[in-house]
Amino acid sequence: MNEAIDYQKAIPSSKRFGNVLAEGAERKETLIQPRAGVALTNEHIKLLQFLESEGEADLLPTTVDSYTRLNRYTEAENGIAKSIETGRSMLNGFPIVNHGVEVCRSVTSVLKKPVQVRHGTPDARLLTEISIAGGFTSYEGGGISYNIPYSKAHSLEKTISHWQYTDRLVGWYEEAGISINREPFGPLTGTLIPPCISNSVAVIESLLAATQGVKDITVGYGQCGNLIQDIAAIRALTKTTRDHLDKFGFNDVRVTTVFHQWMGGFPQDEAKAFGVISWGAAAAALAKATKVIVKTPHEAMGVPTKEANAAGLRTTKQVISMLKDQDHREVPAVLTESNIIEEETRCILSKVEELGKGDYAIGTVAAFEAGVLDIPFAPSKYNAGKVLPARDNLGAIRLLEMGNLPFTPELKAFHRTKLEERAKQEKRPVSFQMVIDDVYAIGKGFLVGRPR
Ligand code: 5AD
Repeated sequence: MNEAIDYQKAIPSSKRFGNVLAEGAERKETLIQPRAGVALTNEHIKLLQFLESEGEADLLPTTVDSYTRLNRYTEAENGIAKSIETGRSMLNGFPIVNHGVEVCRSVTSVLKKPVQVRHGTPDARLLTEISIAGGFTSYEGGGISYNIPYSKAHSLEKTISHWQYTDRLVGWYEEAGISINREPFGPLTGTLIPPCISNSVAVIESLLAATQGVKDITVGYGQCGNLIQDIAAIRALTKTTRDHLDKFGFNDVRVTTVFHQWMGGFPQDEAKAFGVISWGAAAAALAKATKVIVKTPHEAMGVPTKEANAAGLRTTKQVISMLKDQDHREVPAVLTESNIIEEETRCILSKVEELGKGDYAIGTVAAFEAGVLDIPFAPSKYNAGKVLPARDNLGAIRLLEMGNLPFTPELKAFHRTKLEERAKQEKRPVSFQMVIDDVYAIGKGFLVGRPR
């Protein structure tokens, strides 16, 4: 560990993820970051260098393969062997654990931009150790956001504890003078998640991380598609995270934001996919998110080629640069929506705090059990799965079934009224059919899934 500290200390500041984020935030410029990862080291390096030069990426990723995410290292090893044999990547990411510390250093050191590990791992303890020793300066994930949307049977109690380990390790580096950026995974299942639910999880994971000594946090949100709601969500996220960290004495924790371009189903047509990508770029820029995670025209098909990946980045860069002088965070409609999101989030978080008697780790476990926290479309058996979202008449995501979310009667009425407006317009009752139609709408070229 002391050797890893020395290695991290020698990384130039221009390659430290948190520094580059802070400088971007200072300039009020939204930075762009792709997702990318292949099985073999040389191919992975070439891919990232291509995204740096041809994609104009400001920040780089290393996306980890699905076997590693599930701690299935023997299968990851077979994937590496098969990739060598066939000459193409037989894994959907870079298997960090199997490659090990030295190989990771050969990747992170050869690039100009900072590199973050992006994955989806319920138990990421070993992956964290190797990643940080391997020279990565940012690390995605959290005990809720990398469990409930990703796993059926991992208990929340266990994954919160696993991620306390990750955060404690980051805290230990912080104490040694090395800042590692941490990013809770904002979009959750990526399927019609109302901002109050993802914002609540982001705030909780920030508090849990800060408790273990994390000092640099990037909170995230997945695009919903209604511009006003998207800008309001980022505004509310920044505010609520800051307020809660300050409330518990974590005033020295830096907070930045990440906006994820649409995480749901994409159109097959590449030209139409560029439309979706551009709309996400616009929302990220107008919300002044610190960075945006970029999609590619291959999203509907699978893992993109490096050319398609770079094309998504350049599309995004163009829109971001054009909109860099426009800031819509204080537009009256945004403020109204932001206030609603903040109020909803407050309802959820104060209930979590109450259930945990002030302890957010305990409160979170109890809140999921009670359905006070409930993530739509999650596979986890530890999730109540009673909440159902649907779009209102303007495409903002509202709640059709509120399950046990601890909303006030006024908030509940607000959601019902919004959906009634749509029902009237569509001459059909508010129903589960709306939910289904909305899940497929963007892939078919619309935002609201209207009957046709
Ligand atoms: N390379 C590029 N994108 C990836 N994604 C997952 N693995 C990779 C990879 N190896 C993307 C998916 C989806 C998001 C969740 O991550 O295409 O957009």
